[in-house]
Amino acid sequence: MESVQVQVRELPAGEVGRRHFELTTVELPDPGPGQVLVRNTWTSVDPGLRLRLRADAPQGYFPAFPPGSAMDGVFAVGVVEESQADGFPVGSTVWHSYGWRSHAVVDSGEVAMNGIASLRRLDVDAVPAHAYLGPLGAMGLTAYAGLHVIDALDDTGTIWVSAGAGAVGNLVCQIAKLSGLRVVASAGSDEKVAWLLDEVGVDAAFNWRSRPLSESLQQAAPEGLGLCFDSVGGTHLEAALHALNDNGRIALCGSISEYEGAAAGPRNLFLATSKNLTLRGFRGSAHVPLLDEMQQRLGCWLAEGRLVHRESIYEGLESAPTALADMLAGRTTGKTLVRL
Ligand SMILES: NC(=O)c1ccc[n+]([C@@H]2O[C@H](COP(=O)([O-])OP(=O)(O)OC[C@H]3O[C@@H](n4cnc5c(N)ncnc54)[C@H](OP(=O)(O)O)[C@@H]3O)[C@@H](O)[C@H]2O)c1
Repeated sequence: MESVQVQVRELPAGEVGRRHFELTTVELPDPGPGQVLVRNTWTSVDPGLRLRLRADAPQGYFPAFPPGSAMDGVFAVGVVEESQADGFPVGSTVWHSYGWRSHAVVDSGEVAMNGIASLRRLDVDAVPAHAYLGPLGAMGLTAYAGLHVIDALDDTGTIWVSAGAGAVGNLVCQIAKLSGLRVVASAGSDEKVAWLLDEVGVDAAFNWRSRPLSESLQQAAPEGLGLCFDSVGGTHLEAALHALNDNGRIALCGSISEYEGAAAGPRNLFLATSKNLTLRGFRGSAHVPLLDEMQQRLGCWLAEGRLVHRESIYEGLESAPTALADMLAGRTTGKTLVRL
């Protein structure tokens, strides 16, 4: 069986583009005992891939992608075509960690990406398969776990969600709102702001590109912030430190503003000391034990029509590099996916 895969041609120095990747065809071995052959139907496009396209991938993170080989450790959903593994019959839908390729042989015993992407059979009776790359998968877990680690789910104050129209951000907004918080979200276009207000259902939203962040936050949350879920870092984290009230708490989900360039602060970190703030970094994949609880809660909200999900879909494996570049540049809304 042949598999077509995207591999890294060269590491990007600045903005990532198609020229940094190439498609190759490889021969796959037959699945052995405990293994399945999966035909991928969807693959995920994540900001973290850009961090792994650097020779200096951050310490403790998933490993850098070596040029000239397949990109292992990327979320994908597919259908089992051959099986030698109990519990994974031919025709079943699964998730696993061998995305950005057409087919993969996956070992059912492998612990993948800290356990969040180990081979798992999916129930697709009530939801489309790609929901497991969004609200019912790692995105949902990251949103849920990040709110959990700053004790936001029992709070009733105001939370600012940066990159609020993105894959993780829109779920954070919705979970926070459904849990009783007042939600302020920011995004990089007026169209995204309208979506956040009209469909995601946040209390206030603003376009971070159109005015200084401090002014927008002052208008959206004159009472100050109790909580922040930050995925952007740099100027956004700086604005959060400024706007948080005493004893405020920040979930540090990511710092996407720095992934393709130099780090830009924050320059006012002392405010964390003076205001007794809690800055809590976390990885969704460190909270796999919350996965079932998250899927149950978000699954109910989806079934009841109380949780919306939106995807920016690119067609065909060859479009994956463009999808990554577009997502990093803010040209996508909701979860960015490639359909194979
Ligand atoms: N901790 C974890 O376990 C974990 C897991 C998954 C993701 N993450 C992190 O969560 C963040 C969001 O990931 P995602 O998958 O949900 O991606 P996403 O939000 O769907 O896409 C990235 C978004 O970031 C925004 N952005 C990009 N550059 C920016 C800049 N310079 N300033 C402000 N905003 C910028 C853009 O939105 P706008 O156009 O609206 O600005 C863009 O659409 C990333 O930092 C990612 O690394 C963390």
